[in-house]
Amino acid sequence: MLMRPRRLRRTAAIRAMVRETRLGASMLVYPIFVREGRGIVEDIAAMPGQKRYSPDTFPRALESAANAGVDNVLLFGLPERKDERGSGAYAENGVVQQALREGKKRFPQMLFIADVCLCEYTSHGHCGLLKGTGASAVVDNDPTIELLAQTAVSLAQAGADVVAPSDMMDGRVGAIRGALDASGLTDTAVLSYAVKYASAFYGPFREAAGSAPSFGDRRGYQMDPRNGREAIREMELDLEEGADMVMVKPGLPYLDILRMVKERSPVPVGSYCVSGEYSMIKAAAANGWLDEERAVCEAATCLVRAGADILITYHAPELAGWIREGKL
Ligand code: PBG
Repeated sequence: MLMRPRRLRRTAAIRAMVRETRLGASMLVYPIFVREGRGIVEDIAAMPGQKRYSPDTFPRALESAANAGVDNVLLFGLPERKDERGSGAYAENGVVQQALREGKKRFPQMLFIADVCLCEYTSHGHCGLLKGTGASAVVDNDPTIELLAQTAVSLAQAGADVVAPSDMMDGRVGAIRGALDASGLTDTAVLSYAVKYASAFYGPFREAAGSAPSFGDRRGYQMDPRNGREAIREMELDLEEGADMVMVKPGLPYLDILRMVKERSPVPVGSYCVSGEYSMIKAAAANGWLDEERAVCEAATCLVRAGADILITYHAPELAGWIREGKL
């Protein structure tokens, strides 16, 4: 036997020397939910360990993220009132806008990424304006992208360093880039959810954000899990329209897509390890069926091995600790 691969697995030191995949806390992004109100810190039942904060308590979440070594956060908002046009998304005093102003003031060194979508703000729970009535209504693309652009400008004006459109309307990246530039917000970057599938793994998020569609589903705008090559088309379109970074979502079930996008993308690629992936590990760990730390470290490592430059995960603070302790 000439080749004995086990020689390079013999000790912890040699394994550490030859490992191909290395993670750093600077690649982590921590998603945080903010809701309207005051003095609120409430548990999210479907996502044990995650909470909703009001704009005044939100800095506590930032503080604990920063203390854990995570400097990048992604914000989602829950408005007090929803309407057909999702006006809370682009209200000057919208909940995420308030949180951004507060957060930026207290933690200027942190990177604030704001999700851009209407589904948390619309009474019907869809990601855009509806055309038609009842169960046959569809999301109307072109008027929606105007509102998304308005949302992005409003979030950037409130302090978002990066805006992240997650709606999957066609042409929204171009509309957002154009509107940002026209408002003098040329330094605001766009992280596009370029490759976002219509996934069952968003289940817990919809409870967290109260954004489940009141009828139908999102298959008319999010991607079909059966399709791989279409990911390239989505990525190319967003790059042509000015995306600075692209994302593949969800994480683990889409490693093949992540790899394909990474091989073709000239810009940084993110992977979003979504709510369902988080909650599955939490539930199994709570039952003693798997070791949470090892499972999370393995999942994160595999996403980076497959191509993630940026890792968006609800386990970001824990992961940062484990990275510091040399577990990854
Ligand atoms: C909003 C949005 C969703 C997620 C991120 N942005 C929900 C959806 O598309 O239904 C999901 C995130 C997660 O599951 O963690 N459009």
